[in-house]
Amino acid sequence: MRKKIVAGNWKMNLNLPEGLELINEIYNGAPELNKNKEIVIAPPFIHITQAASQLSNMEHVHLGAQNCHHEAAGAYTGEVSASMLKSAEVEYVILGHSERRQYFHEDGTMLAKKVNQVLSNGMKVIFCCGEPLEIRDAGTENNYVGTQIEEGLFHLNADHLANVVIAYEPIWAIGTGRTASSAQAQDMHAHIRSVISAQYGPDVAASISILYGGSCKPSNAAELFACPDVDGGLIGGAALKAEEFLAIVAAIPAN
Ligand code: 13P
Repeated sequence: MRKKIVAGNWKMNLNLPEGLELINEIYNGAPELNKNKEIVIAPPFIHITQAASQLSNMEHVHLGAQNCHHEAAGAYTGEVSASMLKSAEVEYVILGHSERRQYFHEDGTMLAKKVNQVLSNGMKVIFCCGEPLEIRDAGTENNYVGTQIEEGLFHLNADHLANVVIAYEPIWAIGTGRTASSAQAQDMHAHIRSVISAQYGPDVAASISILYGGSCKPSNAAELFACPDVDGGLIGGAALKAEEFLAIVAAIPAN
């Protein structure tokens, strides 16, 4: 059975004391979850070592990072490598977020290298995909997202893909308050699963978790998470308040 995951992407928000306080609130408020359900928090890099020690006793809250460099090491001033993240007890790395694709010009070739760095260092990838509004308006979102997945992931074999979670985040829904309807989310998630199935077969496709992201909040999480191909969420703004984030965690269906 595939995992249900609620992951918080803090983006560039909260200073260190604020971040540690939020982790504390999540630590104190997070429910006991069974093995099929996970909470992930992805704070900024600078919070990570202290976050790891705060979370060290908590089995069901996992630590994520928001990015890593595509090379293993070297003269890349200001960058952070996958092996540094691994050594700081990071378990998940978010890659290919639309903000990184847009503002930092990350393309499929670079993302495929980042995916390799994360997996070869024994961590898991949360691989983001999603179309801008003009692509949705043109009705070509399935092709667009399919190409992102092909470019970023199809060089992997099925064993490596088992350590990848996909997050569908339509750009027009990120930070806009305009959530995809549950029908739009389900349609795209089913399409993504069919793209995986065509390349890796139905068993691999059935076992990969696909999260929805984009203005997910307590009021719409239960409906989105009830869709058969939606396996949880990647949460931005609502992950910055423990009460809202934990209410979204509570919306994960029982089975
Ligand atoms: P919002 O939840 O703020 O729309 O952000 C979604 C997102 O980009 C998570 O990675």
